[in-house]
Amino acid sequence: MFEEAQYFAPVAAQKDGSVVVELSASHPGFADPVYRERRNAIARLALDYQPGTPIPAAEYTEQEHAVWAMVTRELAVKHQKYATAEYLAGAARLGLPQDRIPQLEEVSELLEPLTGFRYRPAAGLVPLREFYGVLADGFFYSTQYVRHHSVPFYTPEPDVIHEVIGHANALAHPRYAALYRLAGQAARRVEGEQALEFVSKVFWFTMEFGVMAEGHELKAYGAGILSSYGEIEEFRGMDIRPLDLAAMGATEYDITKYQDVLFRAESLQHLEDVVGGFWDSCDDDAVARLLATGV
Ligand SMILES: [Fe+2]
Repeated sequence: MFEEAQYFAPVAAQKDGSVVVELSASHPGFADPVYRERRNAIARLALDYQPGTPIPAAEYTEQEHAVWAMVTRELAVKHQKYATAEYLAGAARLGLPQDRIPQLEEVSELLEPLTGFRYRPAAGLVPLREFYGVLADGFFYSTQYVRHHSVPFYTPEPDVIHEVIGHANALAHPRYAALYRLAGQAARRVEGEQALEFVSKVFWFTMEFGVMAEGHELKAYGAGILSSYGEIEEFRGMDIRPLDLAAMGATEYDITKYQDVLFRAESLQHLEDVVGGFWDSCDDDAVARLLATGV
C-alpha cells in the first residue's frame, strides 16, 4: 500500500479560522510551543496562498537560519563526492544562499530563468494528482517549514531543506527538469488511482531516491538522498538493483527508514530512455501490463 500521507504532519483548519499542524509526540518540535506556533503560521500562509501572487515570506529564527547554514555546508562537501555531475551543475547555476533559508519566492526567481520552474507553497500533503500534475506546468509544491533546530541533521518530514537543497538544485538542470515535467504529464494522462500511484512510485525511486553510474562510481541524483546527511553516506551500501519499471512498481518502501532498495540507471541517457520514455507515453493499460509482470 502506498502511504505517502503518513510522511506529512496533518494540517487541520479550526472553526475559528486558525490552522493547527498536528505534530506527533515523537516529533522533535512537539514540546516546543514557539516552534509549533510558527509551524501553524507557516501552514496558514500556504492555505491562504493564491496562485499567481508572490509566495508570502515565512518567518524563521536565527537558530533556523543557522540550521540551514550548517546543513548546506556539510551537504556541499558530500555532494562533491556523491552527487551526479548534472546535479552539481544545477546547484552551481542556481546559486542558493548558503547562510540563510531562502524564501520560496526567491527560489522561484532563481530557478525560473534556468528551467522555467517555480515553487508553490504546500501546508502539508498535496493530493498526488495535484502534486504531480502541476509539474507538467513547471510548478513544484514545496513545504516552507524547517526542521526543529535541536536536531539539525534529522527531519521526520520533508522540510524546506529537502525541498530546496534536494529538489531545486536538480530542477535547475534542464535534463532533470524535463524528467519532472514528463512525470507531471504522466500523472495528468493516467486515469485510475492505481496507475497514478505507479507513476508516483517510479518518481519515488528515481527523482527522490535514484542513483546512477558515473564512470566507475555510483552517484546519487535523487533529492531524498542528496538532502539527507545520513542517507548520503549509506546509499552505496544499499540493495542496488537495475533500473526496471515493473520492479519499482512492485517494490514497497518504508518512509520512516532509510531507503534500502535503490534502482541504478547506467547513465542519464538510460534514465531518460527508460523512465522519461515511460512517463512520456504511459497510460492505464501500460501500467496494468507492468503491474502484471512486476509480481
Ligand atoms: Fe521530495
